[in-house]
Amino acid sequence: MTLRLYSDLAHLWPVISPPEEYLVEAQEWLDVIRDRLDVAPSPGQTLPTLLELGCGGGHLLSHLTPHFITEAVDISPQMLEISRRLNPQTLHHVGDMRTFRLGREFDVVAIHDAVNYMITEDDLWAAIETAAAHLNPGGLVLLAPDCVQETFSGPRVVEWTREAEDRSVTFIEYVGKPQPGSTSVESVFIFVIDEGGDLKVEVDRHTGGLFPAETWLNLLEAAGLGAEYIQTNAYEGGFGGNLFVGQKSALS
Ligand SMILES: C[S@@+](CC[C@H](N)C(=O)[O-])C[C@H]1O[C@@H](n2cnc3c(N)ncnc32)[C@H](O)[C@@H]1O
Repeated sequence: MTLRLYSDLAHLWPVISPPEEYLVEAQEWLDVIRDRLDVAPSPGQTLPTLLELGCGGGHLLSHLTPHFITEAVDISPQMLEISRRLNPQTLHHVGDMRTFRLGREFDVVAIHDAVNYMITEDDLWAAIETAAAHLNPGGLVLLAPDCVQETFSGPRVVEWTREAEDRSVTFIEYVGKPQPGSTSVESVFIFVIDEGGDLKVEVDRHTGGLFPAETWLNLLEAAGLGAEYIQTNAYEGGFGGNLFVGQKSALS
């Protein structure tokens, strides 16, 4: 199913979720990475390398580019275009995080909130395999799902309004309740776009993964990585605050 927010409505992404809102989270990531990364720099290379899978508009990435040599992958050409404009120094690729193979390794492989779109354990495993396949010895995988089963609350509604030069956009999300035994939960997104009093309403539906913390840790370990769960601050709407870190042995 085509997700409208990442296709015909992609132009709303920089308005409802602007890059500056990712600064604090990026700083938390940098602290986690600096404390753990154990890779020898390649000859002639001053910065470590980072690959982001599911980079979206590259908003989080824009705070990491000063610290890494970056490449980024997304399944949506429209979102990649937004990220390309924001992060011109980053090499961008169209690809599915479950199957993408670049044939090169990086010091850090990150999947931010795009990992929410892994809605079965098979999907999540495929994405983690992709991340591990692109990782240097001593390198780190970072996965940041919006929710884990233990702390998820639904049904609920979250909403916020953001102003841009030519319009204001109100984002309303109804987050449903998972079916018993399900590893996913459905949301309905409503966008109210106010262009000087001319109101437009757009609707989109998304399904997100919802796994227990143990599943994330077990899959990282099954991929041959040391696994850790770090709880950080949630962002707007109570999303986020979950960081799963996998580390490949420096001796492998
Ligand atoms: C919420 S956006 C990511 C926003 C990003 N964190 C940022 O800072 O701008 C989620 C992204 O996941 C991407 N995505 C969803 N499923 C994917 C898949 N299987 N492979 C790669 N990208 C995927 C979507 O196209 C979308 O761009």
